[in-house]
Amino acid sequence: MSWKTIDRNTVDADHEGPGLSAAAKEKIRGFFPRYPTRRAVVLPALHIAQDEIGHVSLAAMRDIAELLEIPPAAVMDVVTFYTHFWTHPKGRKVITVCRSLTCQLMGQPALQQAVEARLGVGEHGTSADGQYALMTEECLAACDHAPCMMINEKMHRRVRVEDLDRILADPRNDQLDVQRSDLFDAP
Ligand code: FES
Repeated sequence: MSWKTIDRNTVDADHEGPGLSAAAKEKIRGFFPRYPTRRAVVLPALHIAQDEIGHVSLAAMRDIAELLEIPPAAVMDVVTFYTHFWTHPKGRKVITVCRSLTCQLMGQPALQQAVEARLGVGEHGTSADGQYALMTEECLAACDHAPCMMINEKMHRRVRVEDLDRILADPRNDQLDVQRSDLFDAP
């Protein structure tokens, strides 16, 4: 997660996009007993929506608002606050470059520039072949291995610009070494 407000104009108000499936809604309801209020379920709900659809569409925001009994604007507030949530479709794999201080001191600017040049896109863009999307986030919690970037949920540590082509060419570059956390799975 990171804390950089997104320009609301990046939300494509002309395209509702797909809503949540019945299964996703049921999964969200499964979180209700864990929290003191429905409003508190908004983050797990957004993760579920993004996992299912690939981004958080306007229709999904409305579905979540209805489930949590809060105004749709309250859901959009959260979506547009966290860069982690995408409001438009993204590439198959997401590259997340850390932009916090330790990584910056250890070569992040050159790394980010190289990734942008390689993909031909900037923040929240997707490469022309649809394979990679790019975003930056605050500290990825591996500062002692800076500079870091993630591909989907796989962390790449001490990434040098000269490593980039090899990493991007590896078809398993987003494969986790350990099993994914079940944090956002329904109880
Ligand atoms: S500053 Fe980049 S991982 Fe912490």
